[in-house]
Amino acid sequence: MSKQTRIKRITAADIAARKGSEPIVALTAYDAPTAEILDEHCDVLLVGDSVGMVVHGLPSTVGVTIEMMILHGQAVMRGARKAMVVVDMPFGSYEESREQAFANASRIMKETGAQAIKIESGTYAAETVAFLVERGIPVMGHIGLRPQAVNVAGGFRAKGRSNQEWADVLEEAEATAKAGAFAIVVEGVAEDLANQITAAVSVPTIGIGASSSCDGQILVTQDMLGLFDWTPKFVKRYGDLKSVIDKAASEYAAEVRSRSFPAEGQVYSLKPKLVGDTA
Ligand code: KIV
Repeated sequence: MSKQTRIKRITAADIAARKGSEPIVALTAYDAPTAEILDEHCDVLLVGDSVGMVVHGLPSTVGVTIEMMILHGQAVMRGARKAMVVVDMPFGSYEESREQAFANASRIMKETGAQAIKIESGTYAAETVAFLVERGIPVMGHIGLRPQAVNVAGGFRAKGRSNQEWADVLEEAEATAKAGAFAIVVEGVAEDLANQITAAVSVPTIGIGASSSCDGQILVTQDMLGLFDWTPKFVKRYGDLKSVIDKAASEYAAEVRSRSFPAEGQVYSLKPKLVGDTA
């Protein structure tokens, strides 16, 4: 049996069974070494399409392609051993039809080895969720603030500001759960709305900018590590990576300029042997 075959990862069924019990810990990951570090601490590693903004410097997730998701998904699968790996379906890869969604989701699963995909599941997408699940593709839904819809919404604004918006988001959640999603990311909604959704649906909710009552939480790893000057209100910084990188790069630059790097310990002090020298 190959090493990959012997790896025992957390499954969609394990996550679904966590409704109302031990909170689900999730973070995003886009590369192998980071996935290897996070794996020990997380139940779910999401290869989010936030990779477009966090790693590739795009202004939104709209420009992310299937090929980008597959490349980053493969890297995360090489680093993770235990956590469930979920890969985001990027904008334009699933909305057109259920058949388009199945072709792209199955490609992502085959080429990355990830166990599930995530889609931003507005009410319209419920039939797509059901189509995928019936055909063997575990689906994580994503409702509330849907970043791929930024151009319709006119920005990244939290939801639940009007009775209509409140009802719409609740409907998205119920439709996604009913369609068979094994868990639902609830992003950027009023706390009471997140509480109501969590009580209303039978599958775990994973909050981001939502509520501590959700069945789990997710953050973008680089946000919580403090890599950026600006982060959304809902992010708590658990590290100060930007300062760490700044300080290290500044010391390195100074030592290169003063020729104190490389020093004795970082060079090879090899002497060529004379021809015929057998010692
Ligand atoms: O792409 C992403 O990172 C996400 C999370 C914010 C949930 O969808």
